[in-house]
Amino acid sequence: MADVWDAYREELEGVEDQLRKNLDSNVALVNTVASHILSSGGKRLRPLLLLLCARVCGYSAKEHLVLGSLVEYIHTATLLHDDVVDDADLRRGRQTARKLWGNQISILVGDYLYSKAICQIVGFRNQAINEALSEACRKMAEGEVLQLYYNGNPLITETEYLRIVEHKTAGLIAAACRIGGIIGGAPADKEAVLFRFGQHLGIAFQVADDTLDYAANGDRLGKSLGQDLRQGKVTLPLLHLLHHCSDQDRQMIKDRMETRTLAEADLLRIISLMQEFGSISYAMERARTFVAAANRDLGGFEDSLPKRALSVVADYMVTRDR
Ligand code: IPE
Ligand code: IPE
Ligand code: MG
Ligand code: MG
Repeated sequence: MADVWDAYREELEGVEDQLRKNLDSNVALVNTVASHILSSGGKRLRPLLLLLCARVCGYSAKEHLVLGSLVEYIHTATLLHDDVVDDADLRRGRQTARKLWGNQISILVGDYLYSKAICQIVGFRNQAINEALSEACRKMAEGEVLQLYYNGNPLITETEYLRIVEHKTAGLIAAACRIGGIIGGAPADKEAVLFRFGQHLGIAFQVADDTLDYAANGDRLGKSLGQDLRQGKVTLPLLHLLHHCSDQDRQMIKDRMETRTLAEADLLRIISLMQEFGSISYAMERARTFVAAANRDLGGFEDSLPKRALSVVADYMVTRDR
């Protein structure tokens, strides 16, 4: 993956310039809070995917830089909101905006970034792009609500879990890929393939994220481990464990979800049970099947540098450690 970051460094720096340049609110606190999160080292995967999907369609102009930055604004807005919903204290190794300035500011600056992105996107006067992004935003909100609806419910099925993931995470990633296709002038069938590629990638990405929540090195991840369980989220590795562990352990897990208390020792016990029952490998294997599907989606594109880079990014979804 380092090779891909290197090969597209200049363009990604162009995206960074746009991210900085457009943070120009007259309200200084808006800029302060937004810069806090924007400058904290996000991976910029969505702008990268947008630019690679545009390139794979032969695009050579510069609009992808600003469009990439707008997709990243929307992603950042969802993080500001998500950290409130999830009571998160840490993101990208730093204190979250909600921890530093409070939930209200975090929500409102999230709203600002959403609106800022929409204001600029409508300026492109491109109906297909408007549709792609507004639909992604609608789906993200639905996904987060659906997740709350199932909160603490150990009876959630894998299908319902995947539906949440597809809505809350894959929607925006798929939109980024589709927008690449739109500006690259892809015919409708190729645009749809890029959208599907993004959906497969996005699902793999979130399943891996849910696994990293138990299996990562916390410092490297920059987030607190075990946060999903602490919040009552039944994600794929936990779902697998709940189906395989003893009644006693299942009861212990249900109890921790209900009481929202998770001591370090409980978390370590759950992680070790996950290792014992193969829950981590099961979830990662499921994630890999979506990466394989994403790679198959690329089959119809001619061999090129951006196509190979897309394939590397697809694999990175499940090899990443942050
Ligand atoms: C985090 O996304 C939110 C999820 C959808 C899991 P990323 O892992 O892409 O976040 P950054 O931008 O790189 O921090
Ligand atoms: C991603 O889910 C939420 C969004 C799509 C915004 P998570 O809640 O797992 O993301 P992290 O782990 O906080 O980054
Ligand atoms: Mg979260
Ligand atoms: Mg997570």
